Amino acid sequence: MAGLRASEKWSPASWRQLPIVQVPDYPDAQALADVEAKLATFPPLVFAGEARDLKRQLAEIANGQGFLLQGGDCAESFLEHRADNIRDFFRVFLQMAVVLTYAGGQPVVKVGRIAGQFAKPRSSPTEKKDGVELPSYRGDIINGAEFTEQARIPDPHRQLEAYRQSAATLNLIRAFANGGYADLERVHQWNMGFVKDSPQGHRYEELASRIEETLSFMRACGITSLNTPQLRTTSFYTSHEALLLGYEQALTRKDSTSGDWYATSGHMIWIGDRTRQPDHAHVEYARGIKNPIGLKCGPSLDADGLLRLTDLLNPANEPGRLTLICRFGHDKVEAHLPKLIRAVKKAGKSVVWSCDPMHGNTISAATGYKTRPFDRILRESLSFFEVHRAEGSHAGGIHVEMTGQNVTECTGGATAISEQDLSDRYHTHCDPRLNADQALELAFLVAEQLKKERLNERAEPKTLIA
Ligand code: PEP
Ligand code: CO
Repeated sequence: MAGLRASEKWSPASWRQLPIVQVPDYPDAQALADVEAKLATFPPLVFAGEARDLKRQLAEIANGQGFLLQGGDCAESFLEHRADNIRDFFRVFLQMAVVLTYAGGQPVVKVGRIAGQFAKPRSSPTEKKDGVELPSYRGDIINGAEFTEQARIPDPHRQLEAYRQSAATLNLIRAFANGGYADLERVHQWNMGFVKDSPQGHRYEELASRIEETLSFMRACGITSLNTPQLRTTSFYTSHEALLLGYEQALTRKDSTSGDWYATSGHMIWIGDRTRQPDHAHVEYARGIKNPIGLKCGPSLDADGLLRLTDLLNPANEPGRLTLICRFGHDKVEAHLPKLIRAVKKAGKSVVWSCDPMHGNTISAATGYKTRPFDRILRESLSFFEVHRAEGSHAGGIHVEMTGQNVTECTGGATAISEQDLSDRYHTHCDPRLNADQALELAFLVAEQLKKERLNERAEPKTLIA
């Protein structure tokens, strides 16, 4: 099929005329169409003005100021949709943000992989177990994770459940962010549960005490969370991979104030490493909506390919529109990233550079579990910063798979989870996540890098855009 050109007319449905990969095979086309029609009548989950606010904040990062913290589950699950899971995630996320803000002395833009992160691309369309072959699990919005023929049949009604869960999750998070839970005066209380007594928890406790001292000084000067909303509330945004395009299309709406099209399934959406073909459906869909867009950049993306995608996805070179989420693998960053940074700089493109140290570091443990060694995650993050320092560009963010729970999915970390320990609390529906303790440890490591960058900058201001 001939691909549409970027100049050709875009509509929320124009992706349907293009080749597409990673799509489920729904057995009942009418049932799917009925669900999509119903979704199209539902209220938007987010408001276009919020997506514009996020874009403005990302634009600051593209211009060299600020840091993006993006994280959450690899795949949200229907079974684990509980208030305490959402709260525990949010709490650790706030802890990470505080650690990063304090060290970097710059605003941290908080974006969850949450309230819509349900659809998963898979490396193989089928999965084999004990000689039985079934279609792969593609995320709760599509089919069930249980290894049975029935569960693996794509069911469109799951999209309605994903919408419901996204709305409920977003509602609780908005309440936490604005209703007092995120009040900086509670900085000590975010350190709870199993994290509190871990080495990272102790480290956090020290930092929280320093912040508390500053707050009590400010209180004495008349600045309190009662009269300063910046202390009492926080901005938190949602994001997910826009993989299931029928669902995305149904929630794509024209903003009445600007007349522009927005994805209203989340504030930011990203294109996965497996679906970023420039003449395919996923890029076509993303190019027409005005939200901030993420693009996963893996080892198979070369400089020319990246520039082609930046032209398609951000033709006006608008700062904050495009975040490049790099996921090369701990041993490949140095071979791939410098070339991409130089090409983007030379072409004068404005982007946010973010590091996903998870997806290039997935291995199979001898026990059969999919895992990620924590030291490789740290190494990829460090290399990302080192390369940016050497290239004189701004390392703008980090993108992680994490949970607030005490899971054993990634090996290593301060509590030294071994391959044998993985079976203890291995709960992920898809990729292995950092547990709360590992997430905090990573935040401290990244914080040191941000501090380095801040001190360097003071010593010699650099040019960020060529
Ligand atoms: C993901 O973020 O869960 C994912 C599948 O990433 P990638 O497209 O980078 O492999
Ligand atoms: Co993943």
